[in-house]
Amino acid sequence: MATTRILSGIKPTGQAHLGNFFGMMQPAIEWQVRGEAFYFIADYHALTTVQEPAALRTYTRDVALDFLACGLDPARAVLWRQSDVLEVCELAWLLSCVTPMPMLENCHAYKDHLAKERVPSHGVFAYPVLMAADILLYDSNVVPVGRDQKQHVEVTRDLASAMNRIYGPIFTIPEASILPTVATIPGLDGQKMSKSYGNTIELFEEEKALRKKIMSIVTDSTPVEAPKDPVGSSIVGLYRLVASAGDVAQMEQDFRAGGFGYGDFKKRLFGAVWEYFAPMRARRAELASDTGHLDRVLADGAERARAVAERTMARVRLAVGLK
Ligand code: TRP
Repeated sequence: MATTRILSGIKPTGQAHLGNFFGMMQPAIEWQVRGEAFYFIADYHALTTVQEPAALRTYTRDVALDFLACGLDPARAVLWRQSDVLEVCELAWLLSCVTPMPMLENCHAYKDHLAKERVPSHGVFAYPVLMAADILLYDSNVVPVGRDQKQHVEVTRDLASAMNRIYGPIFTIPEASILPTVATIPGLDGQKMSKSYGNTIELFEEEKALRKKIMSIVTDSTPVEAPKDPVGSSIVGLYRLVASAGDVAQMEQDFRAGGFGYGDFKKRLFGAVWEYFAPMRARRAELASDTGHLDRVLADGAERARAVAERTMARVRLAVGLK
């Protein structure tokens, strides 16, 4: 049986937060030992929101460092910058030509824009097509993503099937892999953690800033002495991601018992988050001090990714009649 090709991308839009980490980075890192892992920094996608060149460059390097610090092994996984492989834009166009507009009109990012009465750019509208190109260009089998990306993988499957129907079997049909346990990471306000809600907790935040953020988690106003419900509490939800089972059970018990304020639970959460990321923080500082290392990793990744992309596009151009 052929090896499984695992592919995922992360948008460089600012500092990585717990939602990115538990929803996508950590599962992707776990997947890297189970097949051929292809992970990229989606800088083309980021252009729908980041329109400041220096910021885009910084975010792109930062997220690559985050990924490496968290355990992505470049000897195993291919890590590259999306824009280093131009074929993805070519494929996006070919896919556009079989994409029904209503399919994109139904996609949530586009609909969100309309709901908020913001004028979506064509980039926002076509975003899922570029994402399909990412996935299909590399003949991916499995796509580990957060729940919010499931719809995009569905679009990808539909477009791959459409192409295969029209031109013969040129594409592998991918599957999304979404871990049910980490499907939704609560943010500071209890909604899903997302940059667009401004409720994120960053992995590599400075100690003081991190503590301040965690202490600002929104809670109800149950008094200190009263029992509290751990079910549905974002403090407990986040604690579960970073603390041992024993510590989680203790916190749940203390919630129910009463006599502990939310401030106390937040302090425990801060301690656990800080400790959980301590080794990665140290590794990140080490990696950041050697800029040449990251350049080499990304250049090597681009070369390995390009080799696959060129093969796919040679096959696809031929199939559609461009060559
Ligand atoms: N859209 C993804 C996100 O916002 C990033 C992404 C771009 C991606 N291309 C992809 C994820 C291909 C998986 C596969 O998180």
